[in-house]
Amino acid sequence: MKMDVLLGLQWGDEGKGKVVDVLAPQYEIVARFQGGPNAGHTLEFDGIKHVLHQIPSGIFRSQILNIIGNGVVLDPIVMKREIDGLAKFKIDYKKNLVISKKATIIIPSHKLLDAAYEQSKGDKKIGSTLKGIGPTYQDKIGRSALRVGDILSPDFKEKYSALVEKHKTILSFYNHSLEALSEMEEQFFAAVEFFKTLNLVDSEYLVNDAFSENKRILAEGAQGSLLDVDFGSYPFVTSSTTMTAGACTGLGVSPSKIGEVFGIFKAYCTRVGSGPFPTELFDQTGEDMRKEGNEFGSTTGRPRRCGWLDLPALKYSIMINGVTQLYMMKADVLNIFEEIKVCTHYELPSGEKIDRLSFEISEVDAKPVYSTLKGWNCSLANIDSYEKFPSELKNYVSYLENELNVPIKLVSVGPDRNQTILR
Ligand code: GDP
Ligand code: IMO
Ligand code: MG
Repeated sequence: MKMDVLLGLQWGDEGKGKVVDVLAPQYEIVARFQGGPNAGHTLEFDGIKHVLHQIPSGIFRSQILNIIGNGVVLDPIVMKREIDGLAKFKIDYKKNLVISKKATIIIPSHKLLDAAYEQSKGDKKIGSTLKGIGPTYQDKIGRSALRVGDILSPDFKEKYSALVEKHKTILSFYNHSLEALSEMEEQFFAAVEFFKTLNLVDSEYLVNDAFSENKRILAEGAQGSLLDVDFGSYPFVTSSTTMTAGACTGLGVSPSKIGEVFGIFKAYCTRVGSGPFPTELFDQTGEDMRKEGNEFGSTTGRPRRCGWLDLPALKYSIMINGVTQLYMMKADVLNIFEEIKVCTHYELPSGEKIDRLSFEISEVDAKPVYSTLKGWNCSLANIDSYEKFPSELKNYVSYLENELNVPIKLVSVGPDRNQTILR
């Protein structure tokens, strides 16, 4: 048995939550391997819309075991809120959700540090979600973080205090107020008590035992490949390994156990937060895309920056992830356009045209070079098979397959579970 991986190929918010929920019935286990409450994964079914931040998107399918792996950073306050939010769905979270004892805990001062670092950067700020992600991963790599298993230890409070004291020293260097801390700590310790009642396990054994029992596992990525800490537009990235390799380290799975890699991309591009975005549109077209796609962050509500599809970036993501199947999301958002543009190359100030994301690319003013395709310019409502797609949409799909050399196996035409066309 192999583990399939599903991940975003752009700057996040590609529609991962929706697709995991659609695919979940084919699996016994859905597992998150990195990121934390910076993620916002939206699921829509039966007229209900739900946004998940830390809990895997298989949670609404009662037969699925959802695992939060060691590579994730978790905020107990968010976990308590998320589980409370699931109460009306009558989900047996003690049975259907397990959490790795080796996952890292976000403590309140990590969120203060996130804010302090961002403020200190001025107009060079990353545009972080301010959920404490960067500072928590920093402590993990710096070998001073608290892990989920630590909350069960009798000296948890001492370990906590030692870490907070270190953070206070840094915060005072940044002149950052500690006023909010005591109230945040009160909430945190209440949430930690609740957290102790969850199913905390050595999830790497669970996952590897599942292989021997022939169980099917789907790993659910958060963020997107262009936000990966190594390969994204550094420093405008998140602090985890968002690519396929992250599923190995974030769950304790050997690379030889990776099966299909489903690469999810929007039929155009969006980005929240700062950083380079060559195809970004600042005109009415961009505005129309944002409105039609309802492009506002699921975690922070910020308007998402919008632009045309970027093929060099997509090819790069496919390369570093070993994508075997592509899933194109939000095709319906392009219904409104008579023409659709696709960036095939970047033009450097020297006039040279390139189609690779070199180290220097984010430093120079790379202008997108576009190909223009005819839009379908009609509604996709009531379309239930690929055959019924307008010819221009079929043409868009085959143009992209040809450029990307990977089959597009799924086209999403709306936010609902049912608005999904498989090929
Ligand atoms: P994720 O972070 O990758 O899970 O994506 P988000 O949930 O943050 O953002 C995707 C948004 O697009 C959500 O509001 C989804 O409900 C919505 N969505 C997903 N697929 C489609 C689609 O095919 N068409 C439209 N119009 N919306 C979609
Ligand atoms: P999902 O899983 C889109 C962006 C932030 C910021 C940068 C760093 O829903 O696709 P961080 O809080 O990690 O320090 O922020 O990364 N970012 C996301 N953008 N979708 C996400 O997650 C994101 N998670 C982080 O906006 O630019
Ligand atoms: Mg999202």
